[in-house]
This record gives sequence, C-alpha cells and structure tokens, in this order.
Amino acid sequence: MNFNIEEVNQLIRMRRSVFPKDYTGEQVSDDIIRQMLENANWAPNHKMTEPWRFVVFTGDGLKKLAEFQAACYKEVTSKTSTFKEDRYQTLLTKPMHSSHIISVGMKRDELKRLPEIEELGAVYCAVENMYLTATAYGIGCYLASGGVTYFDEAKEFFGLGSDDKLLGFLNVGVPKGTTPDGRRRPIDEKVKWVH
Ligand SMILES: Cc1cc2nc3c(=O)[nH]c(=O)nc-3n(C[C@H](O)[C@H](O)[C@H](O)COP(=O)(O)O)c2cc1C
Repeated sequence: MNFNIEEVNQLIRMRRSVFPKDYTGEQVSDDIIRQMLENANWAPNHKMTEPWRFVVFTGDGLKKLAEFQAACYKEVTSKTSTFKEDRYQTLLTKPMHSSHIISVGMKRDELKRLPEIEELGAVYCAVENMYLTATAYGIGCYLASGGVTYFDEAKEFFGLGSDDKLLGFLNVGVPKGTTPDGRRRPIDEKVKWVH
C-alpha cells in the first residue's frame, strides 16, 4: 500500500507536545485512547518481547493517580530531606487537568535475552505511535517524566516488578487552540554520510 507522503510528513512534523495548561478540560473519547493504545502495540521490538505496559487513568482514576503520586513523593523525599511542598501540591492537583493519563512502563523480558536499552527503545517507539495517533485525531498529549517516574517505590502501583521500568506518564487532553510550530536544528548537523 502506498501512503500520501505529504500527509505523513505533515503528521510527523506537526506533532507537538501539548501540556495540560493548554487543555480545554473536555473529555477525550475512550475510543481514541483505545486507538492510541492499539497503535502503540504495533511498535517495532526486538525478539517480539512487546515490552510496553500501560495503565489508563481517567475520571476518578486521575484522583487515585494524583493521591498515589503525592503520597509516594512525600514518603520517598522525606527520607532524604528533599521534600518540596509546592512539588507535592502539583502532584496532588495536576493530573485532574488531563482527560486521561497513561502510565508508560517497560516489562523486562524474563530471560533477559536483550540488553535493557532495546526494550526501552521499543517502549519509546510505542509512545511515539501514541503521540502520532493523538495528533491525527487533533488531540493533545505529552510525555511527562517527572514526579515519581524513576522511584523504585512507585513501580508496584503501575503493575511493574523490580526489573521493570516506569518511563513516564502520557498526559492526554483536548487542545485549546492550534498547536505552535516546533523547533529543530537542521538534520545535517546530526548526520554523516559515508559513500
Ligand atoms: C523521554 C521524554 C521525556 C519527557 N519528559 C518531559 C517532562 O518531564 N516534562 C516536560 O515538560 N516535557 C517532557 N517531554 C516532552 C518534551 O518537552 C518535548 O518533547 C520537547 O519539548 C519537544 O517538543 P515537541 O514534542 O512538541 O516536539 C519529554 C519527552 C521525552 C521524549
């Protein structure tokens, strides 16, 4: 099958991270979220480990996520005296500004047949598939990797074991307006051709 390359180029280049402050507060349909997840499932992955794992939070689930994140943040940072009240309040309130939040996890192959970097790479490819699907539907999203993302203590809540990794949270919402143009330095700065 041939694809319309102009549209493919546009979809890839017009994809932007859209942040919760720029969401209308309207609900995104679960059907669109399911399409995003289905397309995530088609990401390339070595040895077909399909290492992506997601938990979808919406409605009251966003409050459960917020309460867990804030409590986990408090527990972990209190041990090292790095707790910050404003950060805690953000974790407790910000999730409710999204329509859905999808936690993004990497389930490590039990036999560890691959280097971890390959499994992480596959999950980030799955994230890009979700980003592009959202863009095609006119929906905004962004991957957040702050908060409790890299706390070992957070893994269990998201169905992950000790060898697995939490990569972040895909926040999803209806964008308020048109998304801004992106910025990239020229590709030629990052490529060397060998003939
Ligand atoms: C692995 C990864 C982690 C990210 N974590 C955050 C984050 O914690 N906070 C944030 O504001 N944006 C985060 N982003 C989104 C970037 O800010 C965004 O992709 C970048 O600014 C480029 O903008 P664009 O996605 O609109 O092209 C993350 C993106 C990636 C790929």
